[in-house]
Amino acid sequence: MLSALTTFALLGSLVTAIPQVTKRDSGTYANCRTFYSDVYAQTTQNIDLASVIGAPPANQQALVESSIEQFAAGSTVMQQIMAAPKIPVNGSYNLWFEYCEPKNGNATGIFQTHHGIVGNAGYWNVQLDNSPNNSFAESAAAAGWATLSYDRLGVGRSAKPDGTNIVQISYEIAQSISIAESLRSGNLSDLGQFNKIVGVGHSYGSNLLTGVASVSPSAFDGLVLTGFTNNATTGPLGLFSFQSTIANVAYPSRFASEKNDYVITPNVYVDQTGFFHYPNYTNSSLQMFTMNKGEYTLGQQNTISAPLQLMNNYTSPVFVVTGQNDAPYCAANCYSTSSTSSNSTSSGNSTSMPSQLDTAKTLFPSASAFETYVVPDTAHGINYHTTAYQAYLQIISFVQNQMI
Ligand SMILES: *[C@@H]1O[C@H](CO)[C@@H](O)[C@H](O)[C@H]1NC(C)=O
Ligand SMILES: *[C@@H]1O[C@H](CO)[C@@H](O)[C@H](O)[C@H]1NC(C)=O
Ligand SMILES: *[C@@H]1O[C@H](CO)[C@@H](O)[C@H](O)[C@H]1NC(C)=O
Ligand SMILES: *[C@@H]1O[C@H](CO)[C@@H](O)[C@H](O)[C@H]1NC(C)=O
Ligand SMILES: *[C@@H]1O[C@H](CO)[C@@H](O)[C@H](O)[C@H]1NC(C)=O
Ligand SMILES: *[C@@H]1O[C@H](CO)[C@@H](O)[C@H](O)[C@H]1NC(C)=O
Ligand SMILES: *[C@@H]1O[C@H](CO)[C@@H](O)[C@H](O)[C@H]1NC(C)=O
Ligand SMILES: *[C@@H]1O[C@H](CO)[C@@H](O)[C@H](O)[C@H]1NC(C)=O
Ligand SMILES: *[C@@H]1O[C@H](CO)[C@@H](O)[C@H](O)[C@H]1NC(C)=O
Ligand SMILES: *[C@@H]1O[C@H](CO)[C@@H](O)[C@H](O)[C@H]1NC(C)=O
Repeated sequence: MLSALTTFALLGSLVTAIPQVTKRDSGTYANCRTFYSDVYAQTTQNIDLASVIGAPPANQQALVESSIEQFAAGSTVMQQIMAAPKIPVNGSYNLWFEYCEPKNGNATGIFQTHHGIVGNAGYWNVQLDNSPNNSFAESAAAAGWATLSYDRLGVGRSAKPDGTNIVQISYEIAQSISIAESLRSGNLSDLGQFNKIVGVGHSYGSNLLTGVASVSPSAFDGLVLTGFTNNATTGPLGLFSFQSTIANVAYPSRFASEKNDYVITPNVYVDQTGFFHYPNYTNSSLQMFTMNKGEYTLGQQNTISAPLQLMNNYTSPVFVVTGQNDAPYCAANCYSTSSTSSNSTSSGNSTSMPSQLDTAKTLFPSASAFETYVVPDTAHGINYHTTAYQAYLQIISFVQNQMI
């Protein structure tokens, strides 16, 4: 894991609106619409990853070999990645957005969401088994909040530039800040102006938000980090278990046009291992996850822990929500912890039992509130479990208590 990346100096900037807006079938509580927008951002903190791992792998067997070499005894690949020179990245990229607002009345505020790797914007609006209960956007709308989700750079319907040196977490941190600034100034598409913006992340998206808290502590008025701890699994249930496979090899019909540094999990049982706790989900849920999952890049995979090295002066509330059986962030047992007391303030609903979620507290030394919630009988892909609805109620309750 990366450990020596120092201060970021990123600058978010303008987001230009493209007038093209597509109406989408409305849900139970939310009216949703989708649109594309060009987002400008710049950073000096990407790394020259190509100088370490080279050009995109020639084929799948070459990728398997380089994954082994990264984890081989005595390997220095991780140290080389940490020491790689910084490179500036700037420019405008076209991103795909989904915006959902309450059917009744004006929104109290907006959740700006950031999905994880293997996910896409759809993670926040899971329409499953003819119920609104797995959709974060529906639960938010029922409580009077709007939700803005986007396919992060390199994913799904958004732009797919160089997957090694451009599509990395530092540049995505700058993009997230740029989008939040646009929401505040009211110039993202036709969404209007928001003065209460909560950053919501899942997994890689939560790592990304810890970076935003360092680079631009005022971008968000609150943070909700799901599928997250500061104790990522390094053993067999960690990122290695995703078995990153060249996307155009794993699913040629979906990803034929993508370069070989765009990768994905190869099958449904790998998805179960990484994201699900049996039997607290339905079969249609697991199937839907696998059919709709998103690709990610070698640049994202190799920079995911960079923001965790940064200190911050973030002074707003932070809520960490992670499944009890989360594999990549808790080695499938969040209650197995060396901490002896919980450092999170109990919200009345939060358990006071110590858990690995408490490790996230060290990332936010100045937060005005820090709370955790361990979702019972649930793994990394919270939103696809039968417990999703109760997790959403906790999030909404935290936000209403802390921010209204
Ligand atoms: C949108 O607002 C931001 C922040 O105020 C500003 O920097 C940018 O120029 C604006 N973009 C457009 C297209 O007006
Ligand atoms: C934009 O990136 C290029 C390299 O691609 C760099 O030469 C230039 O200095 C950067 N500009 C800014 C404003 O960061
Ligand atoms: C919603 O906001 C608009 C524009 O600010 C305002 O005209 C309208 O009265 C508001 N509606 C409600 C129900 O508050
Ligand atoms: C959604 O969850 C609520 C609260 O548990 C429940 O009352 C409702 O029946 C659920 N809706 C569906 C369609 O399952
Ligand atoms: C999925 O379906 C199989 C076959 O019916 C069943 O054995 C299994 O328990 C189901 N899984 C879940 C999570 O319900
Ligand atoms: C998880 O599934 C088991 C077996 O069906 C059930 O007993 C348990 O109540 C479920 N847990 C939650 C939190 O719903
Ligand atoms: C935090 O704030 C202090 C005092 O304003 C400042 O000296 C320090 O550089 C800040 N740290 C970061 C990481 O921004
Ligand atoms: C970090 O995770 C490991 C299991 O991967 C666990 O043994 C350890 O106690 C955890 N550390 C903390 C501080 O919770
Ligand atoms: C606890 O959660 C329930 C929903 O599960 C919510 O109605 C209640 O307001 C919460 N209480 C506190 C103190 O957060
Ligand atoms: C909790 O706080 C105690 C003392 O304030 C500290 O020693 C411990 O490391 C903290 N635990 C975590 C998981 O942050």
